[in-house]
Amino acid sequence: MNTLSAKRLLLVVTGGIAAYKAPDVVRRLRDAGAEVRVVMTPAATAFITPLTLQAVSGHDVREGLFDPAAEAAMGHIELARWCDALVVAPASADFIARLRLGQADDLASAVCLATGAPLLLAPAMNRQMWAHPATQDNLAALRERGVAVVGPGSGSQACGEVGPGRMVEAETIVTAAGALFESGRLAGRRVVITAGPTREAIDPVRFISNHSSGKMGYAVAAAAREAGASVTLVSGPTGLEPPAGVHTVRVESALDMFAAVRAALAGCDIFIATAAVADYRPAQAAAGKIKRDGETRTLELVPNPDILASVAALTPAPFTVGFAAETHDVEAYARAKLERKGIDMIAANLVGEGDVGFNSDDNELLVLWRDGEQRLERAPKTRLARTLVELVAARYAAAR
Ligand code: PMT
Repeated sequence: MNTLSAKRLLLVVTGGIAAYKAPDVVRRLRDAGAEVRVVMTPAATAFITPLTLQAVSGHDVREGLFDPAAEAAMGHIELARWCDALVVAPASADFIARLRLGQADDLASAVCLATGAPLLLAPAMNRQMWAHPATQDNLAALRERGVAVVGPGSGSQACGEVGPGRMVEAETIVTAAGALFESGRLAGRRVVITAGPTREAIDPVRFISNHSSGKMGYAVAAAAREAGASVTLVSGPTGLEPPAGVHTVRVESALDMFAAVRAALAGCDIFIATAAVADYRPAQAAAGKIKRDGETRTLELVPNPDILASVAALTPAPFTVGFAAETHDVEAYARAKLERKGIDMIAANLVGEGDVGFNSDDNELLVLWRDGEQRLERAPKTRLARTLVELVAARYAAAR
């Protein structure tokens, strides 16, 4: 599967002759479906012009930490939050040393320090600089912190020497960038996920619904797929494209969703309910459009089945993960739902204020289970979903 599809990648280009390959890296990342933005160190601009990288990426290229115009558009912290992963290609010996120290004295190093996204380095340098214990020590420390490294290759170098230190080819960098998103933690597992709102018909033209866009659930489905699971996504009405490689079943109402989930449960290991399911539906949907007659009308509502609680009550039940959308007292209400619905985990989010929760690109979650909890700080839903799926995989493994 192509894990780079719709991913937001930040390419950091540092100073080295291999910077001439950066446009090819951008082009191939974009061919793989990624959106690419570029940050250059001042030294990189000695080897290749920002204009070239702007042309191939389709976005302004950022260089300076103190550029008021650029900071007004997308500040360095926003840039750090925006990306799903960072690729440093070429990564010079100097930049690797500065990364190890946690320096933030230019835009490129500041973004690397300010992000929680995974980082891939494609080192490129003279073979002696590569072999130097300082460089090897720096790389070992960075690997220890979870930084991925691809290459370098070996061969004749721009400086006339022969040996290891050449930046690997663009295609190899693209493959390594894709691997950042493939944890394999759920390989061989079947995961069923609900997403989006439901619509409860009042008559053929009106319905009761809510503000769920489906973004959170679709991101969880994509993340579970990337973690190696076989995923069925049962989705209420949304305007979103189904995630690549995910079997998507579209439904309208809570009753439809209930039936589709039941039909998808055979062999299911993990059930994750992100959908904002309507708790009630009109007792009777009118067969024809209800006409305005000036009279006060009362809508009789009856409860919908609780899909999540019914899955958790099965024997045997899959590992069940719910979401809780709360406007206040988030933790207390979420803990109560964890117990009442008899589920294994719950991811609680605040809704109704700010730009997180419903219909936003970002979210923040408090994930609770019986004897523990973890707070997932504000991040794009795509990245948050990957962290959540890793956490679910770990709790699932612990529960078995
Ligand atoms: O779709 P987005 O715009 O990205 O927004 C994401 C979100 C805010 C919808 C999502 O993060 C979220 O919080 N989803 C759960 C919303 C909700 O309905 O919460 P609840 O507290 O009402 O329900 C608790 C749990 O029971 C949920 O897992 C829900 O899917 C499930 N449920 C609820 C009612 C019902 N009849 N059947 C259910 O399965």
